[in-house]
Amino acid sequence: MQIDVFSDADAVACAGARIIASEARAAIAARGRFLLALSGGTTPLRMLAVLAAENLPWPQIHIVQVDERFAPAGDPDRNIVHLRRSLESSPHTATAHVYPMPVEAADLNAAAGKYAAMLRALAGEPASAPPVLDLVHLGLGADGHTASLVPGDPVLNIADRLVAVTGMYWRRQRMTLTYPVLNAARRILWLVTGPEKAPMLPRLLDADVGIPAGRVNQAEALVLADRPAATALPG
Ligand code: 6PG
Repeated sequence: MQIDVFSDADAVACAGARIIASEARAAIAARGRFLLALSGGTTPLRMLAVLAAENLPWPQIHIVQVDERFAPAGDPDRNIVHLRRSLESSPHTATAHVYPMPVEAADLNAAAGKYAAMLRALAGEPASAPPVLDLVHLGLGADGHTASLVPGDPVLNIADRLVAVTGMYWRRQRMTLTYPVLNAARRILWLVTGPEKAPMLPRLLDADVGIPAGRVNQAEALVLADRPAATALPG
């Protein structure tokens, strides 16, 4: 898996925005739309603010969530709150289609199934195959998690569902995309910044299945890291 190392987190964010913009233009030219899945966390926020300033065909861009925490509407724990705030930093993006994960539903497992059905409808895939998203953004946790696929959670072993409800992690249950849909993506873009990620980055690059991030398909993946996160890499 290719890795590009940059001087700092801002350089990573700008590079990530350029890549997503390029992938969006290519997908829209080829298929008339761009299906983008965004993780939570802090790393994507600057990248999204830079992306929002791009002059893209936003009405053809469909944004889904990789994961979301079970918290009330507007709660700062909600990834969608930060995703929308970053995107709305530019007037261009108002016409983009954003699909929040339904974490306020009474029956969260049923809601996860509805989100999966929405993904299939968006991607236009047959029910027999996982929907193919054009680009999935992933982050890397200091414990090797990605999305809300965290160490020891039974959700790591789900092979027959696209969206699932997790156990408790950092005070919150979550809804997350599962490996089948992550691993079917046309492109995976990892944004990894900060010294706390340094121990896990070599394990990700080695596809170490001992960490959840190591189990994500690397065939069409690219890692963008800053120097503090790359200190444990050889050379
Ligand atoms: C979440 C995120 C999570 C994130 C990693 C890295 O909802 O917590 O989806 O998986 O991607 O924790 O977070 P940073 O982007 O802050 O490094």
